[in-house]
Amino acid sequence: KNEKLWGGRFNKISHPLFEKFNNSLSQDYFLAKYDILGSIAWSNSLLECHILTKKENLKIVNGLKEILEEININNHIILNSSAEDIHSWVEIKLIEKIGKLGKKLHTGRSRNDQVTTSLKLWCRKNIDDLINLLQEIQYTLVLQAKISIEYIMPGYTHLQRAQPITFSYWCLAYIEMFKRDESRLKDALLRLNISPLGSGALSGTFCNIDRDKLALNMGFLSSTENSLDAVSDRDYVLELLSSASISMMHLSRFSEDLIFFNSGEANFIELSDFFTSGSSLMPQKKNPDALELIRGKTGRVYGSLISMLVVLKGLPLSYNKDMQEDKEILFSAINIWKMSLKIAILIIQTLKVNFKNCFISAKKGYANSTELTDYLVSKGVNFRKAHYIVGKIVLEAIKKDCTLEELNISIFKKYHSSFDNDLYDKLDIFTCINSKKSKGGVNINRILNHILKIKKQLYQN
Ligand code: ARG
Repeated sequence: KNEKLWGGRFNKISHPLFEKFNNSLSQDYFLAKYDILGSIAWSNSLLECHILTKKENLKIVNGLKEILEEININNHIILNSSAEDIHSWVEIKLIEKIGKLGKKLHTGRSRNDQVTTSLKLWCRKNIDDLINLLQEIQYTLVLQAKISIEYIMPGYTHLQRAQPITFSYWCLAYIEMFKRDESRLKDALLRLNISPLGSGALSGTFCNIDRDKLALNMGFLSSTENSLDAVSDRDYVLELLSSASISMMHLSRFSEDLIFFNSGEANFIELSDFFTSGSSLMPQKKNPDALELIRGKTGRVYGSLISMLVVLKGLPLSYNKDMQEDKEILFSAINIWKMSLKIAILIIQTLKVNFKNCFISAKKGYANSTELTDYLVSKGVNFRKAHYIVGKIVLEAIKKDCTLEELNISIFKKYHSSFDNDLYDKLDIFTCINSKKSKGGVNINRILNHILKIKKQLYQN
């Protein structure tokens, strides 16, 4: 049976191809729960402004609650229906359940304020889930940071060994990024959490309801000021997609780092069999597919942000059906973000750090050249000159295929008379690490303090 909420004005039924094109149920059935919660709140408001009697409201609310229970058990009943969208489905279902009284629920309401209310409620729940996941990944990284506090590894710029760091320090860098992602969501929530219900189609509702009270009943902070804007506004979708894009960029860089660390060339970590797969041809292979998929799917999330910006770009006020595209775009991006976070958490929990290889690699690549320069500076040589001299010494070490600390003191002296035996202390990798003592540096005590600070912040949440 194909029922429409708007059949009266039409002589013919829709073309089957348009019927399919117009139908959004396969996407917006995710909103079922939120549509029903909004409808219950709306019904209660209709009671308060005497459009519904107590008895009528009770019957409608109970009917809606029954539908909620039914879909909690099996939401396939929605997908099997031919309703146009989730709002039509809930209304048709309610009428089926309680009879023609169900037809009163939509008084003073439009699908335009209804859909954005439901979507905001969906976003709120998902922001909550995402904040939890972002806190969980920070917590997982802080545990890894604690274990790997003395695992020295090379730090890179231009993917060239630059200065020694620790695996712990690398973990803490990503915690900072995920902390910012978390705060971006909390910030977006403040702007999102304002109720559009009662905006009607575009110019408000004739029902004499207290919209702020209705908003509070649904957990919103307040209600929107202008209905023309309220039914047209999808800024919150854009903010969520942009938060998703930025966070996926972090997850993608995280993946890229780990893919490299896991490569035969670096061999700094070993990924668990859980998150790698083999080659159909080459028996020796163990590929970091999970991380590659996070990196790959990041592209799709960026695409979602751009898609949504383009969908909204030329739209005249107020509601236009173009906006129905928001759900497919948003749901898929949020789904990818959540999955990527869950997988990244498990990957951190199960990876093994080959600290010996990290250490060997950190010793190579002349990562202590800066320290040698600082040494000369401390002996009164100006920085530019010191830089040049050390460059020449590195060149000589490269020719001899050895590290700086393996060069004899006579070679150093050949380049500058200020060099003395105490330079070998300076070149020691632990000295290099611990010399970065000021805030934000890789010094081990600094890291320990940072770990404590992060743990405190996480427990406060
Ligand atoms: N399914 C629509 C959407 O997702 C609901 C609003 C439809 N409103 C309308 N007047 N056609 O945007």
